Amino acid sequence: MRKPFMAANWKMNKTSRETEEFINTFIPLVRDISDVDILIAPTFISLETASRLLKSSNVLLGAQNVYHEESGAYTGEISPDMLIAAGCSHVIIGHSERREYFSETDEVVNRKIKLARSKGLEVILCIGESLEERESNRTFDVLSGQLSGSLADLSLDGITIAYEPIWAIGTGKTATDEQANETHAFIREWLGKHRENADRVRIQYGGSVKPENIEGLMSQPEIDGALVGGASLKPDSFAKIAAGASGK
Ligand code: 13P
Repeated sequence: MRKPFMAANWKMNKTSRETEEFINTFIPLVRDISDVDILIAPTFISLETASRLLKSSNVLLGAQNVYHEESGAYTGEISPDMLIAAGCSHVIIGHSERREYFSETDEVVNRKIKLARSKGLEVILCIGESLEERESNRTFDVLSGQLSGSLADLSLDGITIAYEPIWAIGTGKTATDEQANETHAFIREWLGKHRENADRVRIQYGGSVKPENIEGLMSQPEIDGALVGGASLKPDSFAKIAAGASGK
């Protein structure tokens, strides 16, 4: 059995004050949900505030990115040790926005995961195809390439995969439940062919997830949770999404 895992990726939203307001409202809404892992990934600058407020709650804390060196002259970057010191247990790596706007390659993603894992951080690895790649029937090739490059020389310990079709991110277009499930099944099959313990890996879906579509997505056998952007910015909306995974 894989425990459902619902994660909020806030992207470049919310000041520390807004993070505090969200968390104070959110914690009571999800206090009784014990059969779902729930995580919030605010911006770096709000991590310590979030960590203080989430202590002794059932909500985990993650970062949205990390650098692939331990320390040194890398202006503007943040190391795994800093994330751990700020209270993070998880980090999101390889989001399509990082790949697109910050030129992150699978090789860079692989280096980030290796360092993060060596320090004990759990990783949410994002993969996904563009609309053009899907329409030209290259989805599975693209995903295989991202998986083999990002996971080179790594086991699946401490890794969650987030399948986020780029065409569904922030567009209001969700993959259908069946489309998402089929792609998740492909990802698990790839993992099973190349690594041990693929059946234990949680695969989240991401891309316009909201309270209205979470139950359909979670009813699919290969969908173990969601990585949520826009609909995670309001406490009641993200609480409904988390509750939608309860009982699976
Ligand atoms: P939206 O939920 O806003 O489509 O974003 C998805 C995403 O990119 C989460 O990482």
